Amino acid sequence: MGDAPRVTLIGAGMITHDQILPSLYHLQRTGRIGGIHICGTRAASLRALRDDETLRRAFPGQGFTAYPDPDSDGPPEPERYRQALADAPRHAIAVIAVPDQLHFPIAMEALRNDQHLCVVKPLALTYRDGETIAEEARRRGLLVGVEYHKRFDHRALMARSAYRAGKFGDFRLAQAQLHEPYYYRDSNFQNWCTCEHTDMFTYVGCHYVDQIAFITGLRPISVSVYGIRDTYPNGNEGFLWTDARVVWENGGCLSVVNAIGSPNAAAGANFQGIVMWGQGDRDATMLRHSDQFRGVTHSCTEAGDGPGDTVYSEPNPDYMRLLDMGGDGLTPVGYGYRSIEHIVEACVRAGAIPDLAERTAFLDRLDAEGIVATPRNSSHNELVIEAGRMSILAGGREVAIQYAPAPSVAFREYA
Ligand SMILES: NC(=O)c1ccc[n+]([C@@H]2O[C@H](COP(=O)([O-])OP(=O)(O)OC[C@H]3O[C@@H](n4cnc5c(N)ncnc54)[C@H](O)[C@@H]3O)[C@@H](O)[C@H]2O)c1
Repeated sequence: MGDAPRVTLIGAGMITHDQILPSLYHLQRTGRIGGIHICGTRAASLRALRDDETLRRAFPGQGFTAYPDPDSDGPPEPERYRQALADAPRHAIAVIAVPDQLHFPIAMEALRNDQHLCVVKPLALTYRDGETIAEEARRRGLLVGVEYHKRFDHRALMARSAYRAGKFGDFRLAQAQLHEPYYYRDSNFQNWCTCEHTDMFTYVGCHYVDQIAFITGLRPISVSVYGIRDTYPNGNEGFLWTDARVVWENGGCLSVVNAIGSPNAAAGANFQGIVMWGQGDRDATMLRHSDQFRGVTHSCTEAGDGPGDTVYSEPNPDYMRLLDMGGDGLTPVGYGYRSIEHIVEACVRAGAIPDLAERTAFLDRLDAEGIVATPRNSSHNELVIEAGRMSILAGGREVAIQYAPAPSVAFREYA
């Protein structure tokens, strides 16, 4: 594998299995990264990744170094990531895919070990934590890319170019939905996606907040989130249904609903999409993305054996698929793969620039381009999440975002 950098992946859950690890295996197969090291809290989740039939078939002969040993049966090891990161060479790459509330401490530990970073969204749950990550990364000349993979869906890039060329006029209203399937309630979500830590708006609503900012370049100025508490099978409570309203600096408004509420019996793997309306010179403008139904329908001999699999289905060919494109194994395609590839390749480039000033110039360019979400160019997301958490815990009160003298959030005062 020559000089290709090591990748340390912290987190061995669903997103690692479905998107990150297949993408990393492909980057390894094509020589762009070196050894893959994965740290989880439990041996069982690492064992499940190692023994996964689909991954074995797609990437024959490839594997990873695990922390802890997948064949051990000790208690959970929530601090083991420190060792995994300390073992990595300086200026290698860390990918962080743990529950939302752990992104901040684990990202900081990775930075202290001089790793370039890819962090699953949301980067952090408060603006202050996002800024702390940004400052530490800048001081050390390290790249932090936040994995908002919808940015790498070609339709989002098309919309961004067209909006910025003035073709959609001025953004006025948007409605978006992203509902995850009901069976998520039975998964590990019930242990962390609970009222005191996070909620469905924070977990997935942030994608559509980021889409509006990515497409229009506007900044959000106020947030209110109404959440309904529901009980998971293990008795924990989560805000499993949320309805958020985000107002933007030009007066435009996004309304987004999120839930673990897409029926298991439904044909899609989830339910998602957005419609935006704008004000043109002589007419209204409109953009509509069906992000779940992509024009493909299958009706098979029988349902698959995964939860929520149905005989009749509407598979999404665009997010993440492992396809037979000749050669050994299978090839990952889709915006899920492109997103990891883009961020990891940027980390590889940053890691290959020894001079701090030159590396900083490269990081400045990424911040300014705004294609990869970085702590500096996507701090609107942390502000919205911080405001959203305040709002949902206060029954939906409106929380205002201010940018001067310094970015902050506070309950809106009415005259
Ligand atoms: N659409 C998206 O962009 C998208 C989709 C899914 C998940 N995510 C994000 O990915 C993150 C993980 O989600 P998931 O669905 O994989 O959750 P999950 O519950 O399936 O997995 C979480 C994993 O985190 C690991 N973990 C927890 N504490 C740890 C610790 N101290 N050290 C090492 N590992 C630890 C465990 O291995 C666990 O398996 C969340 O932040 C989520 O918001 C993003």
